[in-house]
Amino acid sequence: MKTIKILSACLLLLPLASCTQMQYKGDAVTEQKVEALLSKMTLEEKIGQMNQISSYGNIEDMSGLIKKGEIGSILNEVDPVRVNALQRVAVEESRLGIPLLMARDVIHGFKTIFPIPLGQAASFDPQVAEDGARIAAIEASSVGVRWTFAPMIDISRDPRWGRIAESCGEDTYLSSVMGAAMVKGFQGDSLNSPTSIAACAKHFVGYGASEGGRDYNSTFISERSLRNVYFPPFEAAAKAGVATFMTSFNDNDGVPSTGNNFILREVLRNEWGFDGLVVTDWNSAREMIAHGIVADDKEAAAQAVNAGVDMEMVSYTFVKYLPEQIKAGKVKEAVIDEAVRNILRVKFRLGLFDNPYVDEKRPSVMYDESHLAAAKRAAEESAILLKNDKEVLPLKENIRSIAIIGPMADAPHDQLGTWIFDGEKSHTKTPLTAAREMYGNKLQIIYEQGLAYSRDKNTAGISKAVSAAQRADVVVAFVGEESILSGEAHCLADLNLQGAQSELIAALAKIGKPLITVVMAGRQLTIGKEAEASDAVLYSFHPGTMGGPAIVDLLFGKSVPSGKTPVTFLKTVGQVPLYYAHNNSGRPASSHFKPLDQVPLEASQTSEGSSSSYMDVGVAPLYPFGYGLSYTTFKFGKPQLSSKELSGKDVLTVTFDLENTGKYEGTEVAQLYVQDKVASVTRPVKELKRFTRVTLKPGEKKNVSFELPISELAFWNLDKVKTVEPGDFGLWVGPDSQTGEEVFFKVVD
Ligand code: NOJ
Repeated sequence: MKTIKILSACLLLLPLASCTQMQYKGDAVTEQKVEALLSKMTLEEKIGQMNQISSYGNIEDMSGLIKKGEIGSILNEVDPVRVNALQRVAVEESRLGIPLLMARDVIHGFKTIFPIPLGQAASFDPQVAEDGARIAAIEASSVGVRWTFAPMIDISRDPRWGRIAESCGEDTYLSSVMGAAMVKGFQGDSLNSPTSIAACAKHFVGYGASEGGRDYNSTFISERSLRNVYFPPFEAAAKAGVATFMTSFNDNDGVPSTGNNFILREVLRNEWGFDGLVVTDWNSAREMIAHGIVADDKEAAAQAVNAGVDMEMVSYTFVKYLPEQIKAGKVKEAVIDEAVRNILRVKFRLGLFDNPYVDEKRPSVMYDESHLAAAKRAAEESAILLKNDKEVLPLKENIRSIAIIGPMADAPHDQLGTWIFDGEKSHTKTPLTAAREMYGNKLQIIYEQGLAYSRDKNTAGISKAVSAAQRADVVVAFVGEESILSGEAHCLADLNLQGAQSELIAALAKIGKPLITVVMAGRQLTIGKEAEASDAVLYSFHPGTMGGPAIVDLLFGKSVPSGKTPVTFLKTVGQVPLYYAHNNSGRPASSHFKPLDQVPLEASQTSEGSSSSYMDVGVAPLYPFGYGLSYTTFKFGKPQLSSKELSGKDVLTVTFDLENTGKYEGTEVAQLYVQDKVASVTRPVKELKRFTRVTLKPGEKKNVSFELPISELAFWNLDKVKTVEPGDFGLWVGPDSQTGEEVFFKVVD
């Protein structure tokens, strides 16, 4: 088998970050400072730096340990006065004055809450991700937070898993681009700026593939899948200069990430050259006991550190047991030195030694107008128009009344989504409040909740909702999930709308008025029935603080939907896992299948269908990956290739015409997919390789181009080499993963 080897890993992610952006070849001055400080440290002080605690009690309760140099980082402290008080103990009262690193989960906003990451991914707009992270960093750093545990870039192909909400979805390339953009936003131009916070690529690795979609569960990902599917977003974050990594809770093929030398040393350090800090997840060092990998805390500490962990989150096994494990020869002091170097390096890069304190008198930056405007824009771009029969949307100017119905229409807490420790519902603008503010004097707005909350099974309010709907020209139903139904440890086996929401939609549909269903949720739900019953469906995930005005503007056509599904939407949960970039079986399924009821009784055993499909629902999704409508229509021209024969060093230019053929100005997300036709191992039927948002006025046509270095077609092949294998490739450009005319090219030696 002839292969074109990739000489430089940097080539693989050129569009994400050039190699010169990598911060990892530490500057000599920082390295000298690190060495000078390290040489003064006692073993206890070194191990102290490796200890992260969660803030508790009074300052005095923590100051004893800080003075002794037994704490390197504190998480969950967001009061600037306390931050400074703790920092003062570290800087002024500990022997070496090493500042603390203050951490917090700032996932999709600090006070101003942006759409959940899955929603942001639906924008297919890295600027949305970067701006959201930048604003989160500005707000969080203003109270003294200098480290966030984001972005989460676990590939997530199972919506039962509650943490899919925190992810960028199912696709490797999309997650790589959005994750790198978030890193850039959190860390700013330089970590050293007081408004920059260190980002954390998490959870390394494979956490999203937990068996059965149950959080914390085992994963069984082959090395090939790790390298081709799960690693790339992390490698992209590393190339974007992410300061820290977090290990994941899961064990993969029997090895918990927190004790996994292969991923932490061989791949992260040796292959990718990462020189930042690796932290465990919460208590995950100790959890190796429950995994059955170590017998006790003592062994857990040694296993984690030897595998390549630098800092332990909250389980105290390092401070308690590393000294004796070193004495016993189970851990080498050189391993500790390396870990401490990694920690100090990040602290120096953040400028903490020069500026350990936060300015307590700084005017508040929370909920600044510009932050709210960015959050609104993000919510607009995150919403996906899944259906729009008879152009029921945008709402017409001549409507005189609108019924706003449903448990999510005015749910200020729930529309913020999961992981919002610091967001406040008092600042949320719900669709109901926004509609009243923006249209209250022009339209009659009739509001009936119908159900009190998403899980509400009490149908008593449905008749009131129906009568409200009967009095209006148009009905907009807001359904979905409360925020607590997704996120960590909040997994579901049933992905239908909870409570009596389906009954509510069915009752509203019967009236015969135009019915628009807006879904706010932490994951893609199985909404086939409700979509069928509705004239239009707008899927906004949990849209954050400014979700209300964003949705109202979309409904009334002040803005035009442009979001695309960052995950495949399923017809039924039994289809899990269903994702577009699957490998083919030897008997690929077509989208046609014989409905179960048409199979005759006692039919003789034939290979009817004879393909990798389900007899009852087939294999087609409800909505494919990359899908989303607009109020306008777009026409894609046939893609033209700069060459039909290219070598591994070439760059393919793909150009095509994109025309707005409808009545509104709108934005299309043009997507480029590639298939490697014949390879030494089975390859995905399609893989996203590029996307771009193109805004066009009605009738406007643009010639759009993508540059695709052939080196980006490399994959980890049969010989365990990252390689582009020569041969035939198919390529599509289109509005989603299933549409577009296929064109072909060849890669030659
Ligand atoms: C556990 C979660 O898995 C992780 O994502 C989070 O950052 C830590 N807890 C800290 O809260």
